[in-house]
Amino acid sequence: MIKAIKKIIFIFCGNKLSNFQGINNNQGIKMKYGHFDDQKREYVITRPDTPLPWINYLGTEHYFGIISNTAGGYSFYQDARLRRLTRYRYNNIPMDSNGRYLYIKDGDTVWNPMWKPMRVPLDKYECRHGLGYTKITGEKNGLEVSALYFVPIGARNEVWHVEVKNNSNDKKNIRMWSFVEWCLWEAYDDMTNFQRNYSTGQVEIENGTIFHITEYRERRNHYGYFACSEKVSGYDSSRDAFVGLHYGLDAPRAVIEGECRNSTAYGWLPIGVHQIDIELKPGESKKINFILGYAENPPEEKYLPDGKIRKDEFFNVREKFLSSENVEKSFEELKSYWDKLLSVYHAETANEHVNRMVNVWNQYQCMVTFNMSRSASLYESGIGRGMGYRDSNQDVLGFVHMIPERARQRILDIASTQLSDGTCYHQYQPLTKKGNADIGGGFNDDPLWLILSTSAYIRETGDTTILDEKIGYADKPDSDATLMDHLHLSLNYTLNNRGPHGLPLIGHADWNDCLNLNCFSTTPGESFQLAGHIENDRIAESVMIAGLFCRACEEMAGILNFIGKKNEADDYKKKAAEMRDVIYKHGWDGEWFLRAYDSYGEKVGSKENKEGKIFIESQGWSILGGTGLENGHALKALDSVKEYLATPNGIILQQPAYSTYYPHLGEISSYPPGYKENAGIFTHNNTWIQIAETIVGRGDRAFEYYLSICPSKKEEQIDIYRSEPYVYSQMTAGKDAPTYGEAKNSWLTGTAAWSFVSVSQYILGIRPDFDGLVIDPCIPSEWKELKVQRKFRNAVYNITIKNPSGINKGVKKITLDGKEIQGNKLPVLNDGIEHEALVVLEK
Ligand code: BGC
Ligand code: NOJ
Repeated sequence: MIKAIKKIIFIFCGNKLSNFQGINNNQGIKMKYGHFDDQKREYVITRPDTPLPWINYLGTEHYFGIISNTAGGYSFYQDARLRRLTRYRYNNIPMDSNGRYLYIKDGDTVWNPMWKPMRVPLDKYECRHGLGYTKITGEKNGLEVSALYFVPIGARNEVWHVEVKNNSNDKKNIRMWSFVEWCLWEAYDDMTNFQRNYSTGQVEIENGTIFHITEYRERRNHYGYFACSEKVSGYDSSRDAFVGLHYGLDAPRAVIEGECRNSTAYGWLPIGVHQIDIELKPGESKKINFILGYAENPPEEKYLPDGKIRKDEFFNVREKFLSSENVEKSFEELKSYWDKLLSVYHAETANEHVNRMVNVWNQYQCMVTFNMSRSASLYESGIGRGMGYRDSNQDVLGFVHMIPERARQRILDIASTQLSDGTCYHQYQPLTKKGNADIGGGFNDDPLWLILSTSAYIRETGDTTILDEKIGYADKPDSDATLMDHLHLSLNYTLNNRGPHGLPLIGHADWNDCLNLNCFSTTPGESFQLAGHIENDRIAESVMIAGLFCRACEEMAGILNFIGKKNEADDYKKKAAEMRDVIYKHGWDGEWFLRAYDSYGEKVGSKENKEGKIFIESQGWSILGGTGLENGHALKALDSVKEYLATPNGIILQQPAYSTYYPHLGEISSYPPGYKENAGIFTHNNTWIQIAETIVGRGDRAFEYYLSICPSKKEEQIDIYRSEPYVYSQMTAGKDAPTYGEAKNSWLTGTAAWSFVSVSQYILGIRPDFDGLVIDPCIPSEWKELKVQRKFRNAVYNITIKNPSGINKGVKKITLDGKEIQGNKLPVLNDGIEHEALVVLEK
């Protein structure tokens, strides 16, 4: 009986996949699904049935795509909601449906090199996720097909560079089909408004190219195209014609029957399919390029005299990218682009996880979060949230060193969604750059993050002209307000909106979107943050915002001192000191910092509470704001974090978990224990504790925390962790969950930026300051040496740090180009050349 069941299981899931063998990493641990190729900066996935789809991003600036290890995903231009090019089906089974597929018919065998959608067992499979590209290779019956997907720098199209190789001893005549499904532009409407959308789809087909021209006839001046470098033997643009109404992508009728229908979609569901016939001698190979892209016409020149749409932009792109030589050249350009970006910060340490995360994957994820904010991933549908005010400000922190000019523009865009009363739109759409009225403002931490991003920009570049940029306000776009005005306004907003204890009012929520102390929502489906908001919201206060405010004051003081406004700077330092006193008086619980006061004026995050006694955020931010460093509170709070919150999989958000829903606490208590904000391991805030540990000088503990959430380290327990081991996930299930250790919401998380800040600036300790580069490592005592190459304000600093007596922190001596310097700050040299700094740590 058992044998029979085993056999059935084998037939259904075992198939040839069992041939895909794990390989050993450097430490001899068997990696089941893949491994890092550190040299090539790729993650190599060696079997397609990963525990979850493991995705990557295509595109660097305007045109983007998500792509999974089985080529699932979609593309969009600038805005995942408003300019969605291809359709994706979230929430489907099997997971990860729709993508950039190729179907192959080789004799009687029909298969996909990317395994999905047909899931025909492959003889070989490999997916290489690299920086801005993904290459998937499948082999069956001696035919090897690889597809390299990427977006050339500056382009608004993607390229599929396909190579078909006959590794067998026989001549092969194969037929190949490409497949994408068009999305009718507005992704939300596309998913909901069928009564209209089943009658809007339109295409034009010219020489095998499928132009997606839905709605072009009216208000749109853009179209999509899908072209192929080969002569096609057929095509399809109607999904029903190609797939068959009652069939799925795992068995499209046209593929199974071997022939396209040459359909022209008119309404219903438009797709793009090319049919190509290829003959290959033994050992022969062939390259084929597909281009999928977005194009625009000036509104007044939408049409040609004959009434057809103008396609000049497409012709230019085709000219360039249908030749393999050009495609390969632009792929090299993409690689050099990343060489350059990653050369700004490069470290060599004793730990391989640190090296690969710091030098490659963490920085790459910082670029992705900067581009996407929280809009498009496998967990963010691209239609819900656009760019987040607090999120995007924080994303700048991990990105600004790579392309400061883009960070500058982003800061100004964000600031212009602040209103003249100091509140900020919580989210905005990237395409329109306008705040989302639906969610509005009133998240009282939002304004303060602008000071942190602006300060990071000035520290990186020394460029203070950003402060004088006139950006107005969201409600008064013509006002003369400068960025500097916004910064003052933000700090004053906190000062003017304080509660009974003198702590900042929390509003709808602070960083913890789910701590909704003014909401009292009892109606299913309403937004916790908004719908139930009570009238008297001037009681609930946040200790976390208090800490953030102190930090923002210090950053502001730094900016003001840098531009010679010492008195104003001193004033903010005084305000920070006053707030610290308030925290000591009303925000200290004896062993840790309180989290908040609720709208009854009762403590949240106190030993007096039955559940939610201790929270992580206020421990981190109080210390980052300089609170508790003199009186021992900081050390005490951090020891409490260790005792009550830390686990080998990261630090839990709060304990004990809320066991039931409390209307006066809001969404936080709506999650089952161990998930998300209810006692999940929210990796974002773990980084603040790492930084706090470096501030108090405990490098071993900071590093232990760093490793406890480090994705690359999770390969060792990947069947539990499940998410991509090359990027951070927002959350790991906490110990109250039966799924403890499982990660979720990969990619779009503030953890990316903050981890990079934590490890690069505080653990490895190379930190840009307004007038130089601070060297202040706080490392594990067992590290004897580390090296960092940092490009900073037009000079290259090669920094070697020696730790002869095995301490955590303490710069004793620095020599720069052979000469000893005072203090621990390398001066701004701005001479375009390399400099050698030798740093010795000693008690
Ligand atoms: C999530 C938060 C997120 C918020 C965004 C909540 O459901 O738990 O992590 O910040 O939604 O609106
Ligand atoms: C994710 C949101 O994007 C972010 O803004 C928030 O701070 C965290 N969740 C915590 O709730």
